Amino acid sequence: MSSSLSLINLTKKFEKGTINEKVALDNFSLEVAPGDFITILGSNGAGKSTLFNAILGNFITDEGNIILDGQDITFEKDYKRALNISCLYQNPLRGTAPNMTIEENLALAYTRKASKSFFAVNKKDSAVFREALAQLDLGLEDRMKTKMGLLSGGQRQAASLLMAALAQPKLLLLDEHTAALDPSAAQKVLKITRDIVARDNITTLMITHDMKNALSYGNRTIMMDSGRLVLDISGEERENMTPSDLVKFFTERGGSLSDRTLLS
Ligand SMILES: Nc1ncnc2c1ncn2[C@@H]1O[C@H](COP(=O)(O)OP(=O)(O)O)[C@@H](O)[C@H]1O
Ligand SMILES: [Mg+2]
Repeated sequence: MSSSLSLINLTKKFEKGTINEKVALDNFSLEVAPGDFITILGSNGAGKSTLFNAILGNFITDEGNIILDGQDITFEKDYKRALNISCLYQNPLRGTAPNMTIEENLALAYTRKASKSFFAVNKKDSAVFREALAQLDLGLEDRMKTKMGLLSGGQRQAASLLMAALAQPKLLLLDEHTAALDPSAAQKVLKITRDIVARDNITTLMITHDMKNALSYGNRTIMMDSGRLVLDISGEERENMTPSDLVKFFTERGGSLSDRTLLS
C-alpha cells in the first residue's frame, strides 16, 4: 500500500532573470522508498518548504520530474495531487475548518476521496472516528461535537494528523508541524505522528529544526543547503550519528550557520 516517490533533477528559480533571482531548488534529486519516513534538516532558506510546494504542485518546477507511486505527476494540478498528498504546516490553524466540529472535520477528510457528501456522517463512520480519536489518548473522543477552533494547537495538530491518515494519502508531508507548539505538546504530537505513520505505513517527509528529533524519528535523515541535497543517511551510519556530528558536518562543508536554531 505504501508509495514510492522519485524527485528527479528538480530546479526552481524565483524571480527568474532578475537581479533578485534565487535558486531555491538546485538540481535536487531524491529516491524515496515505499514506507520511508525521512526527516529533513537545513538552515532557513535552504529550500525545504519550496521542495514541499513543488511536490504539492503549488507551482511547476523549471526543470525536473516528480513521480509518485510510479505515476508522473510533474504537470498534475495541485487539487488533484491533494487527493494523494496530505500536508501539515507549522500553523495549527491551517488545514482544518475551525467552525466545523471535530467530527465534521474528520468526515471531510474521510469522504474527500470517495467524493461523497461530507454531511453524510453515518453511525458507522462516527464509530470509526470515535475509535480513531480514542487512540490519540487526548480525550477528544468525548468532544466530537466540539468546534475545531476551540482546540489547543497541539490537539488541532493531532486531529489534523488523524484527518491526514483518514484520507489514506500516498504521501504525508510535515513542514515543522510541531514548531509552534510548547515542548510537551510538541512531543505528544511527534509521538502521535510516529504511531500513525507506523500503523498505516505512510511514506512521510518531515521537516524539523531539531537535530535530536531528526535522528530519533523516522528511518532516514537528509540535509538541504542552498536547494541541494548535502546529506542522506540511514541505517547504521544514522544510528551512529549524534546531533553534534550533524552540526560539525554542516559547518565543515561551509554551510552558513546563520540559523542559530540549527545548533540548538
Ligand atoms: N514565493 C517566493 N518568492 C520568492 N522567493 C521565494 C519564494 N519562496 C521561497 N523563496 C526563496 O527561496 C529560498 C528557499 O525558501 P524556503 O523553501 O522557504 O526555505 P526553507 O523552508 O528551507 O526555510 C529562500 O531564499 C526564499 O527566500
Ligand atoms: Mg520552510
